[in-house]
Amino acid sequence: MESKITKKPSATLTVNNKQLELPVYGGSVGPDVVDIRKLYTDGKVFTYDPGFTSTASCESQITYIDGDEGVLLYRGYPIDQLAEQSTFIEVCYLLANGELPNKAELDRFTRDITYHTMLHAQFDRFFEGFRRDAHPMAIMVGTVGALAAFYHDSTDIDDPKQRVIASHRLIAKMPTIAARAFKYSMGQPFISPRNELDYASNFLRMCFAVPAEDYKINPVLARAMDVFFILHADHEQNASTSTVRLAGSSGANPFACISSGIACLWGPAHGGANEAALKMLMEIGRPENIPAFIDKVKSKDSEVRLMGFGHRVYKNYDPRARAMQKLCHQVLHEVGDDNDPLLQVAKELERIALHDEYFIQRKLYPNVDFYSGITLKAMGFPMSMFTVLFAVARTVGWIAQWTEMMEDTSQKIGRPRQVYTGPTRRDYVPCAQRK
Ligand code: CMC
Repeated sequence: MESKITKKPSATLTVNNKQLELPVYGGSVGPDVVDIRKLYTDGKVFTYDPGFTSTASCESQITYIDGDEGVLLYRGYPIDQLAEQSTFIEVCYLLANGELPNKAELDRFTRDITYHTMLHAQFDRFFEGFRRDAHPMAIMVGTVGALAAFYHDSTDIDDPKQRVIASHRLIAKMPTIAARAFKYSMGQPFISPRNELDYASNFLRMCFAVPAEDYKINPVLARAMDVFFILHADHEQNASTSTVRLAGSSGANPFACISSGIACLWGPAHGGANEAALKMLMEIGRPENIPAFIDKVKSKDSEVRLMGFGHRVYKNYDPRARAMQKLCHQVLHEVGDDNDPLLQVAKELERIALHDEYFIQRKLYPNVDFYSGITLKAMGFPMSMFTVLFAVARTVGWIAQWTEMMEDTSQKIGRPRQVYTGPTRRDYVPCAQRK
């Protein structure tokens, strides 16, 4: 990656009675950054930033978020325009290559992805090893990591061609693995991919067809799946993407890195929030139970959070949430469930929260997960599959970010420091002499 960082007037920091001159850089848009790489060498101090709330870990040209304005851009294109006008496969090309493809490039890329969707026959035996009631995310973490054991010809991270093949394999095989994880939990036979279908339709068919009856593709639901994938495709340096980059910084192969991203995504504060948000709506059950729930969330003694609300970066309405809300209405209408009680609870919960001082003060708005659970449930997915669908979509973001890192000569192995508050040096006392 060619650096596009620009130099700005430097900053001065006084530390340990020493004045340090710190370089400041700017990007194309967004806040400037202070370069602290020489801080320890020159000033003998570290910075302290648990949760990386003020730390830029890398230069990136892929995704930009303006959290105050509620803006999300993939390679400069607003998410709402992509969700309205593009397709997931085109967005994959955009994220991976930096520009929208022309017709020939798109056809070629679509073909490359389509012809990598099958899995090695021996790979299926991995699924058999899991308990029938295993969470599909557990299956995803294990099986995606296992891809490295099958595709040795795309694990040399120093070979750009192998990196591209690994990217294609991951984007292509993730829906097949996800659908198998689903089928396994249902006790149904695996359904093979079909090359004549588009990405989203193929995935839905692999999930919902059975040998006795093929899946009739509903274009509204197929488009909804595609848009869901677009909305979740990348989100700059979030927890799972940073995990992928950190794993990759040691030189680990891409399959292992993506598996680590899936593990991180599983947590309820991140990708697991869509499952948690739907559980919450089901627990609330009826609009009249909302005030008591809101009181619980606001109580200082409770750990209860309004799931699907709040975001580290967005201090405004998450633009993905707007698109997801629209999608939710379209899907519910298509499946004849316009009056889904969960949607009524969600809408009333949102209305009350957006007018409540607690949420206003903390700038807590609905995020992408608030409406995604209701949408996916209406499409026929069980809750345990929600985060898996997020992982299928985010794979392209992870792999684009990993590739960018591999091409960035300024990157080093990720190795944070700490402020140590444990015991200082002391001598070992043999067990018999301890009190
Ligand atoms: N419900 C109630 N209070 C909240 C919530 C919430 N969802 N989110 C934050 N707060 C409060 C929090 O208690 C704190 O209050 P106080 O200052 O009085 O202690 C304040 O807001 C700041 O919270 P924080 O935990 O310091 O904020 P963060 O930036 O570390 O957390 C978050 C971001 C997404 C983890 C958090 O908002 C959250 O837990 N939300 C619910 C889970 C969720 O929906 N996650 C999906 C995120 S979007 C999809 C994705 O990218 O994975």
